[in-house]
Amino acid sequence: MNLSLRISLGIFMLLIGNAAAQELITNPSAGKVLYQAHCLRCHGDRGDGKGSDVHSLVVPPRDFHTPESTARNEYELRSIIIWGLVFSDMHNWGYRLTSQEIRDVISYIRQLAPFQPRI
Ligand code: HEC
Repeated sequence: MNLSLRISLGIFMLLIGNAAAQELITNPSAGKVLYQAHCLRCHGDRGDGKGSDVHSLVVPPRDFHTPESTARNEYELRSIIIWGLVFSDMHNWGYRLTSQEIRDVISYIRQLAPFQPRI
């Protein structure tokens, strides 16, 4: 392999590696701040769906600790947070939170209720 090809390949691998690494960086502490500002009033401080506003809701917030909820993969959680859930007060947050903020808030939810894939 000639030198310029090696260098371009090296740069390419570096860029790919960097993009992949960035994708995985999440900050649960930043997620906690966001959660407390936007989600806590419904989902509660333990993520059990017992926030201060639940009495005014027709559909209760989900408890993140249920097996259905802990089995949700990253893609499902992201979609729910971005698009919301119809006929409920779980609104779409995609226009208010950035991609990174959504990743961070999910990482905090995962701290409250760790991911447990169904076998
Ligand atoms: C006004 C109340 C309210 C607020 C604020 C709220 N949610 Fe929800 N959320 C709900 C309700 C209600 C449901 C359940 C809807 C249903 O069962 O159809 C829900 C469901 C969810 C679910 C689905 C859980 C599962 O496993 O099914 C996720 C994830 C979620 N909310 C994340 C968030 C995040 C993150 C925030 C803050 C950015 C947030 N919610 C803010 C009311 C709220």
